[in-house]
Amino acid sequence: MGEKMLVLGIESSCDETGVALVQCAPGASAEQVPELLSHALYSQIEMHQAFGGVVPELASRDHIRRVLPLAREVLGAAQRTLQDVDVVAYTRGPGLAGALLVGAGVACALGAALAKPVLGVHHLEGHLLSPFLSSDPPQFPFVALLVSGGHTQLMRVDGVGAYALLGESIDDAAGEAFDKSAKLMGLAYPGGPLLARLAEQGDPKAYALPRPLLHSGNLDFSFAGLKTAVLVQSQKMVAAAGVDTFQALPLEKQRDLAASTQAAIVEVLVKKSLAALKETGLKRLVVAGGVGANQQLRQQLNAQCAQRAIRVHYPELHLCTDNGAMIALAAAMRLQSGRQQAVTHYAFDVKPRWPLNLL
Ligand code: KG4
Ligand code: ZN
Repeated sequence: MGEKMLVLGIESSCDETGVALVQCAPGASAEQVPELLSHALYSQIEMHQAFGGVVPELASRDHIRRVLPLAREVLGAAQRTLQDVDVVAYTRGPGLAGALLVGAGVACALGAALAKPVLGVHHLEGHLLSPFLSSDPPQFPFVALLVSGGHTQLMRVDGVGAYALLGESIDDAAGEAFDKSAKLMGLAYPGGPLLARLAEQGDPKAYALPRPLLHSGNLDFSFAGLKTAVLVQSQKMVAAAGVDTFQALPLEKQRDLAASTQAAIVEVLVKKSLAALKETGLKRLVVAGGVGANQQLRQQLNAQCAQRAIRVHYPELHLCTDNGAMIALAAAMRLQSGRQQAVTHYAFDVKPRWPLNLL
């Protein structure tokens, strides 16, 4: 086993500033999972809520305020200093350009000041590898269902950096379908978790909503039409009840539409994941990204996969949404696998659009 290496990871692609310290051992076997020493997160969600969504310029400015205090916090918690850091990793993309530039700029400045190498990480690779930090880490190969606010993809994963795209959303992401439907229901941003909570006591069969591309014969998704169907249904309900807003409806009706919406999204995600497992013949599924926190999705995947002797792995709940730990981890796993070297030239670019399978 090689020397231990300390990776500082910075995530700033959207509305969460995350920083983490991970320790790895380059040259170690692929099975050896790097160790998370500490991580800290600041969520800007409250700031953006007044606008009903993320305001990119405000996001960038807030990342600037948070990133160094978070780095200090993380180093302090692990009882390390900046001089102990061997590599500085940051999210290079995809994400909001201005927000990405903050993390990249700070990481490269730190690297230059410390004369330590830097490494740009793909945000989705971070999500995809995040279940390795759970108490039940997966093993390669596996099928990954990546379900975040901006992406819905099924990938075949044969190892670190070996990602083949099996299918993806041709329009809205699953998280977007949750968030946009939630907005129609008068819920705050990001509405996914709030919609899930409203759905808890609702009847998922109350309203027949479309399951887009369920029988398309391929592994692609489409969620834009669902949002329109939810809009039409909610307008009908409001008109029939003679009220002004969705939130003026009896709570039971609100719960039923939330439950029906969640059921439509979850059914498509579950069926397509099962189809991907069947197509690849793999017996392991990894679920990652913010929507992976959804309990209905977890329950149904667990039940369906148990019947087929398929193992399902999730990140710890608090690592489902954006965080620095997954960025430090992805960098550490890349370094450990020898797949990538950190570099000591500090000119950087960011990639707001960056397909994972082109990595
Ligand atoms: O991965 P993530 O933090 O950010 C992106 O990289 O996009 O995912 C955020 C998305 C949001 O759309 C949010 O509403 C959704 O994940 N989300 C959920 C739940 N928790 C987060 N959607 C449904 N149910 C949840 N429990
Ligand atoms: Zn994300």
